[in-house]
Amino acid sequence: MAAVFSGLLSWLQLEGEPVTKYVINGGRPLHGEIEIGGAKNAAVAIVPATLMVEGPCRIENVPQISDVTMLLNILKQMGADIRMINRHTIDIDCSAIRTPDATFDMMRRIRASYYLIGAMLGRFGSARVAMPGGCNFGGVRPIDQHIKGFAAMGAKVEVKNGLVCAETDGGLTGCSVYLDVVSVGATVNIMLGAALAKGKTVIENAAREPHIVDLANFLNSMGADIRGAGTNVIKITGVEKLRGGSYSIIPDQIEAGTYMAAVAGAGGDVLIKNVIPKHMDCISIKLREMGVTVTDMDDCIRVTRETPLLKTNVKTLPYPGFPTDMQPQIAAVLCAAEGTSIVTEGVWDNRFKYVDELAKMGAKIQVDGHLAIIEGVKKLTGAPIKACDLRAGAALVIAGLMAHGTTEVEGVGYIERGYEDIVAKLRGVGADIKSVVLPDDPAVEVRNAG
Ligand code: EPU
Repeated sequence: MAAVFSGLLSWLQLEGEPVTKYVINGGRPLHGEIEIGGAKNAAVAIVPATLMVEGPCRIENVPQISDVTMLLNILKQMGADIRMINRHTIDIDCSAIRTPDATFDMMRRIRASYYLIGAMLGRFGSARVAMPGGCNFGGVRPIDQHIKGFAAMGAKVEVKNGLVCAETDGGLTGCSVYLDVVSVGATVNIMLGAALAKGKTVIENAAREPHIVDLANFLNSMGADIRGAGTNVIKITGVEKLRGGSYSIIPDQIEAGTYMAAVAGAGGDVLIKNVIPKHMDCISIKLREMGVTVTDMDDCIRVTRETPLLKTNVKTLPYPGFPTDMQPQIAAVLCAAEGTSIVTEGVWDNRFKYVDELAKMGAKIQVDGHLAIIEGVKKLTGAPIKACDLRAGAALVIAGLMAHGTTEVEGVGYIERGYEDIVAKLRGVGADIKSVVLPDDPAVEVRNAG
């Protein structure tokens, strides 16, 4: 019991951690094996979903990343009983939570805290939740489609004084909801509310990402009735209650893609273990176009790059398109490809803030609205650079691995919101990267990611 408790404390610890930077001596090819963890964007939906379950849920393959830590802290603050069974397994029992209220400040530090709106509406028929804070891509991250869905299901939703307040008359009622944009967040939130609503909900133009399917599988394994997840029409028949059980989260498509891109950029031969190769197709196809050998196996992918990189064009789209969460990483690799590549961001308004940092390393990138035109250079050179969000940070690490000389990446708090043990995993395949503690800087604060 004592071991369980101290493990829980270390997992839940957020404050007072030292601020670090990564120091990378680039130019070394990568060789060996990397094990992929559970999917961040599935975990940040499944953890809030446990609020709707009566009795304990055992969740396995939970990535130990700060976004998940924050959500666990939020549930704990609301009264959940949380026990860490081992590094990647947690028991969560939300039975003791009595009020649909999460208006405290911690909520503003993570985007996915808004999944509590759907979960609370499902369980309590009302919700009072602090709005997730500003956006880290530089553009707007609206939640109008979430609100539209809840309103169609009979909720009165108001956004005031930084809170989202939603009320119903005895719970949500199923209906048909057409999403005007394909939104992961709105699909998740409406699916959560609908799982315990009266009657049948149909979400049309739904997102199809693997983590949507994973959430549906989790809810179904707890007694929900959700069909069609993974297609653009999801049908949910509300049930009376969800009961506890155990569930294992799928491997992280983007973590795997990031290490695939790292091998493509730095060169070498790495076996990426614990992946679902089908989820990786959209990324593997692009890497093959760039001259990288990608071989699918049962639950791993081998990535080999021994020849110069070739140019290609990439456009990000909702799944099964090329993921926006891989856009900065693939752009970093294309900086050293022969010829000119065009990267088009098709999901977010502004996700190119990181290019100025790559320019410090000698990259030649011109941004024009949703396009980044990348003229390949012979080599990148090490420089001091700073991450501005999670995936941008991953891209800078990749650039550091590719570059000649030393790169120092600051803002690694962003990276650690979504990548467990990135330094150890890269060192394990021969990268020269280390984490160095920075002197205290009260100005350093990690804001919304994911
Ligand atoms: N949108 C609206 N209205 C809404 C919701 C979204 O117009 O009500 C627009 C957005 O502005 C954007 C597009 O729809 O242009 C897609 O947004 P989506 O709702 O799908 O994004 P999200 O749910 O906020 C999740 C991931 C992001 C990932 C996007 C797209 C989580 C916690 N976050 O965000 O992941 O970029 O889907 O795939 O699942 C990351 O992991 O680094 C990350 C940012």
